[in-house]
Amino acid sequence: MGMYAMDPKKTTKGKKGNISKTEQWLEDYAHQLFANWAERIQGKDSDYEWISDQITELHKNLNRTAIYKFGLKEVMNSEVPADGWRWTSILQNDEMHAGFLDLAPGATIPFHDHPESIDAMLVLDGKVEVRSYSPSHDVVAIGKQAAHLKPVNYQRLEKQDTSIILPDTGNIHGLRCLGDRAILLDVQVYQRPNVERRWYFPLGAANNDPGHVIAAAVPESLLRSAIGCQTEQ
Ligand SMILES: [Fe+2]
Repeated sequence: MGMYAMDPKKTTKGKKGNISKTEQWLEDYAHQLFANWAERIQGKDSDYEWISDQITELHKNLNRTAIYKFGLKEVMNSEVPADGWRWTSILQNDEMHAGFLDLAPGATIPFHDHPESIDAMLVLDGKVEVRSYSPSHDVVAIGKQAAHLKPVNYQRLEKQDTSIILPDTGNIHGLRCLGDRAILLDVQVYQRPNVERRWYFPLGAANNDPGHVIAAAVPESLLRSAIGCQTEQ
């Protein structure tokens, strides 16, 4: 949690009177996504473009608020994350989780999913590589501890570029910082809070499908208890 982060337990519902402008812009963004949810999660090019426009606009609006500007400056002026990457929360409630994602040179974030979420990332500084996957139907045959991942997208992003993941398309992604440190705005909007994420660790290629990967699938709670890994993002 960043120093300026708001209380993550606090929900802003019913408190429109005194919430900050930063929260207001973030909530407006989430509500815009909810209002268009069904038609924007189908994976069409126009869906990705529309969500990209929304997060780009969100950043422009947020960047006019003192809380956001100060928070971003703090992240940019901070030490490079010693553990490879760092999540600094801006707002977390029953509908969304927004924050800055900060990656050290060469750092990777292992594959993980964002169940039932629309996750949008906007690169604010640096360059980053994003690979996204969908679990293929074979996941049932393999069982709960492993997944067969089908590649959906490979992106090399620079400043102002976006990466979008949808609930049923490319919901699993992993990141790698290319070159210097990278800083991203990451906003996850979900219909149901606290759905547990899973982390995916590649075991090898799937023999018959080029680009497909077989991965061990580990629930976040298990990962936390096993290695005390930083999994805030
Ligand atoms: Fe993620």
